Amino acid sequence: MKQQSRLKTTYRTHHCGEINSTHLGETVTLCGWVDKRRDHGGLIFIDLRDRLGLTQLVFNPEQNPELHKQAESLRSEYVLQVHGIVEKRPDGTVNKKLPTGEIEIHVSELNLLNVSEVPPFEISEEDFVSDDIRLKYRYLDLRRRSMVHNMRFRYQISKLVRDFLDQNGFLEVETPYLTRSTPEGARDYLVPSRVQEGSFYALPQSPQLFKQMLMVSGVDRYFQLARCFRDEDLRADRQPEHTQIDIEMSFVEEVDVMSLIENMVSLIFKQMLGKDISLPLKRIPYDEALKRYGSDKPDLRFELELQDVNTVFEGTSFKVFQDVLQNKGAIKALVVPGGASFSRKDFDDLTEYVKTYGAKGLVWIKYPEAGKWESPVAKHLGEGSLESLKEKLSVQVGDAILIVASSLNTTCFSLGALRLNLAKRLNLIEKDKFELAWVVDFPLLEFSEEDKRYIALHHPFTSPKNEDVDKLKTDPLTVKAKAYDLVLNGTEIGGGSIRIHEQDMQKFVFECLGIDKEEAEEKFGFLLRALEFGAPPHGGIALGLDRLVAELLGLDSIRDVIAFPKTQKASCPLTEAPSSVAEKQLDELSLKIRKA
Ligand code: AMO
Repeated sequence: MKQQSRLKTTYRTHHCGEINSTHLGETVTLCGWVDKRRDHGGLIFIDLRDRLGLTQLVFNPEQNPELHKQAESLRSEYVLQVHGIVEKRPDGTVNKKLPTGEIEIHVSELNLLNVSEVPPFEISEEDFVSDDIRLKYRYLDLRRRSMVHNMRFRYQISKLVRDFLDQNGFLEVETPYLTRSTPEGARDYLVPSRVQEGSFYALPQSPQLFKQMLMVSGVDRYFQLARCFRDEDLRADRQPEHTQIDIEMSFVEEVDVMSLIENMVSLIFKQMLGKDISLPLKRIPYDEALKRYGSDKPDLRFELELQDVNTVFEGTSFKVFQDVLQNKGAIKALVVPGGASFSRKDFDDLTEYVKTYGAKGLVWIKYPEAGKWESPVAKHLGEGSLESLKEKLSVQVGDAILIVASSLNTTCFSLGALRLNLAKRLNLIEKDKFELAWVVDFPLLEFSEEDKRYIALHHPFTSPKNEDVDKLKTDPLTVKAKAYDLVLNGTEIGGGSIRIHEQDMQKFVFECLGIDKEEAEEKFGFLLRALEFGAPPHGGIALGLDRLVAELLGLDSIRDVIAFPKTQKASCPLTEAPSSVAEKQLDELSLKIRKA
């Protein structure tokens, strides 16, 4: 017996995308939008579209002149219900690219369910449309084939994740959106309370403290596809609200969390892309990532590694390098294959680029032919240094060397950014290549010049490594954390840690962060209280779902995997949020807007 369509409703028997030659001769009723209309010497063809695909409708003037006349008036995006017989397409007209390409519907009845204005852009074509227009008419943009695919792909990943975690003994628990501030390094979105005048909720930057509470309550294995809200500068991979696959587990160490995530991610790659990931994934210590790739989220799809050249310039008379070495800074180089063909303008552009990362300048040296060097500072560097560079860096004819000299962090981060810039310029990244790795052994703290105090690199609830606890007071910057980040193609797709579960240690870490007793009590009293009641050792992670989906689809922006995203200015062109509110609403909240 033929399978009944699961999509049958009062309006239709099937979806447009599911009809094929197994339905030949059947009478079907379909609903959808006019994707395209073509008039072909008498016959009118209409591609009818719904979420599952297209079906070709045929209107023949000889068989049904009245219906044919009706079809003439149909326009793009009109909504139809049609009734007709599934017929084989004539020889030579089969469209192999479409799952429904072997059949067409000979329409016997047509119901116009709704008309449409002329859409502001073609929905049937994937032409370029500006983001503002796409977002203003997002409901039309979401009709486009690529967006239908992205939404479905995202849903399938969420489903895989839910099923996988369910099979591994996790419980999905929802945590509040109206809550207190959770420190994840961004500004909070605040919601004023009407009932408690002058008080505010903060939308959670993540469910971090709630998931820790759930471990204290014995949930043991928690997860949530959680929306997180962060008021920060937006970029292609940052939205004011994003979704995390948020996970927490009791009685675990780093390796337990990491191996669970490796299994989950490799399942996603297998199911969604048919790709095998070899496990365990690479683990790169933070210091090494910084030194070799100039980043804590290294893109491993290409080489072009940073190379240390301090030793080459010991005793140099070049003042810039001398100063850096005296100040215990770092001189590092990138060897650019084929870089000798770059113009002065190219080098000027690259120099400006590294300056935006804090470098004072960029030394460039070309090696266009054997024994010949070209560089504005060739004379200052001297023949000897250039030859040693060539030796140490295995420079080939046609290459260029780019050097930054500054403090270790500035040298690494600016050359790391330059490395990515060059990879794009030189097309070094293979399409469809995926490189996953863990970055581990992060420092627990960093010094914030802005706040003039130590701040947590992950968050203040991350546990220091046992062997480093004693150094927290004496040498805090050398203390490593039980933290791990998952990196895919140079994007941080996840981060987590083992948490502090002992109250004394948590208090001590707050103290190291310059959070005094009162502030700790005021902000995190509820956490400290919970840690008094038998908190188990626990740890977890959160993966950025939007970033994960966008990376797997090879998309540049996470906006393309979010149904209703915000613009760079955190606004929504569709609803025009954020917007002003009525005076009455402000009064109820006891708020007044200060006019500039
Ligand atoms: P973290 O702040 O590293 O960790 O966030 C986890 C992951 O969420 C994604 N992400 C974002 N995606 C889109 N837009 C944003 N603005 C954005 N911010 C973060 C990233 C990131 O790796 N509570 C901890 C997790 C834990 O310790 O368990 C947390 O939120 O992919």
